Amino acid sequence: MARTDWRSGGAWLLVLLFLALFGCGGRTDRIDTTGADQPLLAQLPALPGGEVPREPTAAVAGSKKGYDYWKASTNVTKNGDELTLTAAPGATEYAVYQFATGRPGTATYNAGVDLSIALGNTAWVALSDYGAGYWAVYGPYNSSVQLPLDTGTYLSSTGDFYLAVLVEGGQTVTVNQATFSYDDGVVPGPTYLGDIQAILADNCTACHSGNTPPKGVSLEHYRGARDNSATVMTKAVDGSHGGLTQDEKDAFTAWVADQTPYGAAVTYTSDISPIIASRCAACHVSITSGGVSLDGYANAAANGENALAQILMNAMPQTGGPLSNEFKDLWQVWIDDGKPE
Ligand code: HEC
Ligand code: HEC
Repeated sequence: MARTDWRSGGAWLLVLLFLALFGCGGRTDRIDTTGADQPLLAQLPALPGGEVPREPTAAVAGSKKGYDYWKASTNVTKNGDELTLTAAPGATEYAVYQFATGRPGTATYNAGVDLSIALGNTAWVALSDYGAGYWAVYGPYNSSVQLPLDTGTYLSSTGDFYLAVLVEGGQTVTVNQATFSYDDGVVPGPTYLGDIQAILADNCTACHSGNTPPKGVSLEHYRGARDNSATVMTKAVDGSHGGLTQDEKDAFTAWVADQTPYGAAVTYTSDISPIIASRCAACHVSITSGGVSLDGYANAAANGENALAQILMNAMPQTGGPLSNEFKDLWQVWIDDGKPE
């Protein structure tokens, strides 16, 4: 779905006019409030739409190294963490950075880009203005820039935000990093990692831990708190155990009402494959003990439930002792969440 709305041609005059008026840089002038002419964007991909929904990379903020772009034109060079855009005369080069917030909506935003620019060179910054339906261009800049944005809709329907750096003909600019943060005023509900773990550690795990916890209720890991949440609720909230404050009781009640969220996205790539590499690979990657391969995402996913059962029984790994509670929790959450890659 192409949502950019620009026309080529005489629009360059507009840019030249702006260069003449504001060429000193370091400004936050938005040059396209009508959305009519955006010559700088002739080579940018259309404002992205309909991307696959994702878990947030971070609740409300994120940064990307210069090299960690989503899409870029051809004449860009990675050097270390940075990305250098060198535009030949008459050409425009760009790099687009993607931030997946997982929380579509209206909010107050801050976007920024950390640039190294030699004297006499300038860069333009374009932001995904989904409210207007086109890329919004700001600049030109001759140094790093922060853009405090008005309340508006800068996120796609799936909660993604995009920032592009553009460099015009004959100029060179290096992107060190791009940053994005926003505040939609929504206070996230309690999660295990964010709230509940600490409450249980302070009030309950002195007794409810170890191999033989009272009534079999272990509260020193996510699975224990989640699996016993109904009875834990009763005990925690009626005050017969642990003596929670009213705030702690409220957090507990909200956590159970929200179906006991863990508080972090668990994926094969970032969480499960490192566990397999350190604790299972010797027997299930190099060789396939018991006919079970855990080599790569497809095999790990196919054997995921059986592996969880083995891990929770402490039957696997066969050597080196049981997995830590944290690793068991990660595996459990990965299965619960549908084994994301
Ligand atoms: C001083 C030790 C101690 C502390 C601290 C403690 N408990 Fe207990 N808990 C026990 C004992 C002993 C039992 C078993 C006897 C009973 O049910 O009262 C138990 C039982 C339970 C049960 C099982 C009830 C059932 O009927 O199956 C739950 C759930 C529970 N506790 C939750 C909690 C929570 C939540 C906290 C912290 C807010 C907590 N406990 C703090 C000692 C403790
Ligand atoms: C030292 C070797 C070794 C390590 C390390 C090891 N396994 Fe195994 N695994 C085996 C052997 C041997 C079998 C087949 C015999 C058996 O079930 O005991 C097996 C069987 C299995 C099975 C099939 C069980 C069944 O009965 O269906 C699963 C699933 C499994 N392992 C998962 C894992 C996971 C997950 C890890 C890492 C957390 C792991 N294993 C680490 C040796 C190992």
